[in-house]
Amino acid sequence: MPTESRLGGPTDLTMEALRVAEERSRAYLRNLANRSVYPGESALAALAQFHEPFPDQRCHPADVVRMLDEFGSPATVATAGGRYFGFVIGGALPATLAASWLASAWDQNSAFRVMSPVVAEIEEVVLRWVCEIFGIPDDCEGGIVTCATAANFTALAAARHALLARSGWNVAEDGMFGAPPIEVVVGDEVHASVLKALNLAGFGQRRVKRVPTDAQGRMRADRLPKLAKNSLVCIQAGNVNTGSFDPAAEVCRWAHDHEAWVHVDGAFGLWAAASANYRHLVAGFEMADSWATDAHKWPNANYDCGIVLARDAAALRAAMTISAAYLQPGARREPANQTPDASRRARAVELWAALKSLGKQGLAELVERTCALARRFAAGLRDAGYEVLNDVVINQVLVSFGRAETTQEVMRRVQEDGICWCGGTVWQGKTAMRISVSSWATSEEDVEKRETRVAQPSPAVCCRWLDQLKGRSYSNPRQTSPILGSHSRGRLCHTILLVLATPPTYATHPPAHRHRAHRARPLRGPGQSPRGRACRPLRVPIREAYAASPQHGRDVLPEAHHRDKRRDSHSESRARTARAPECRLPAREFRLTRVPVIKFSVLQHPSLQ
Ligand SMILES: Cc1ncc(COP(=O)(O)O)c(C=O)c1O
Repeated sequence: MPTESRLGGPTDLTMEALRVAEERSRAYLRNLANRSVYPGESALAALAQFHEPFPDQRCHPADVVRMLDEFGSPATVATAGGRYFGFVIGGALPATLAASWLASAWDQNSAFRVMSPVVAEIEEVVLRWVCEIFGIPDDCEGGIVTCATAANFTALAAARHALLARSGWNVAEDGMFGAPPIEVVVGDEVHASVLKALNLAGFGQRRVKRVPTDAQGRMRADRLPKLAKNSLVCIQAGNVNTGSFDPAAEVCRWAHDHEAWVHVDGAFGLWAAASANYRHLVAGFEMADSWATDAHKWPNANYDCGIVLARDAAALRAAMTISAAYLQPGARREPANQTPDASRRARAVELWAALKSLGKQGLAELVERTCALARRFAAGLRDAGYEVLNDVVINQVLVSFGRAETTQEVMRRVQEDGICWCGGTVWQGKTAMRISVSSWATSEEDVEKRETRVAQPSPAVCCRWLDQLKGRSYSNPRQTSPILGSHSRGRLCHTILLVLATPPTYATHPPAHRHRAHRARPLRGPGQSPRGRACRPLRVPIREAYAASPQHGRDVLPEAHHRDKRRDSHSESRARTARAPECRLPAREFRLTRVPVIKFSVLQHPSLQ
């Protein structure tokens, strides 16, 4: 195999590898809309290919990329697409992704200006822009770190330095053993990353005082404790579950009366300041002393990109400065002196590219659109009869589908389906599904798809509802079901039929002449006629039939539906799927219902749970 030129820099090898990487990246991104958001079992199993002994031989760089794509790409989570709603994860904007390709080609070490004047310069520019967006003084000092957890840690280290210095203690030299105590106050719904940062900074959890919070997770300003002088108060802009904001102005005034340092964990919420419609939510946070945020969340810069900012530039520098004879800092700001890490890649470039491409208008639109989509989710779920647990103030939605097991089951189905991905949480004792709309790539169509999937109960959930319905009379099956979301307006008509277990020929080829007779007939009960005799299986009107296949995580539509979709290139294989006996449910669920076909409509499901 040819080797790289030792003199001439990049050679054909590099160019070939880059060409393959570009081709594969383009194909990956193009395919995002058509793939399952979460990798399937076969993709995960194929990861075994990476488990080889450390190779003896060289491998052609292009082949390395090919292997990575072949076995790695299918096992990725499609967070770059529009249907990932887990955690708080944005997708990389086009400009930030492309800039990262170029910056990778530059291969800069951003630690010191002498190593990369361009990155040092861009870092200064972009930090000023972030101060402007957040409405904080532009002479604040800052650094670009990996994530909000690291940003929280960096800010708390600066706070520690400043607070102890006021008591005549030099923590850089004397450490934390024997240092004057610092009281730490957080809200009850503090993010775990702040607690981790407090641990890393040597504060420990036991000395942390927690302020009670309200139903949205906001610190209660009427419950602020007595505060010692020189304390550290951590507040939050954007609760990870509800998106709520602590009452910053009141807390900052109270804290500053006690000469406390106020730190803001604003991993995503601080970016609400970019929009005139949401700026009121961050009012008062500009009064704080330090701020931590992420650009890889709402602003959709690519990973990893956290930002720390501190009003007291000297404290941040004192806490983070590194010095050695060989480093020889220049006269100007050195990036490594505001962050825990030294050598690092050119994160500032990607952040700059994201903000430059959006501009004020684009960033405001991104915030506003994702918030509007979150509200739409919430409205759809409420209309479907589910309980939205939070006030949807920004881009976060918490929804409960009833009992904890039901919510978990819905979440499992949503994740298994692969159409989108949502995670779970427990909010003030209640199990909930979290929906975070954080990506520029999320469209209304993505939300619509997702809403439909959630609004549509899984077979297992239906089984449970049905079980509870035994003995009750069923509502009019022809009435529009409130639980169907957009399906109720779509071509599948107003009724959903869950084919739970039935001979495949029966489910997929119902004799046309029998439909009418059964169409309007209400289902009496699972496997029972009104007089308690076993009844014949319910016939499935062809256009209204809908079968869910838990094994395959996709819809199995009846034959007639496929006939309508002949032009669809997948119709043949989907028709085959429809004929195959794939709509089996796990035995437990099958036994629960004892009816081969369940017509599911107009069940006031939440009240039944
Ligand atoms: C409020 C808050 N703080 C901190 C973090 C941690 O962010 P990171 O994973 O970037 O460290 C998160 C993550 O979602 C968050 O929501």
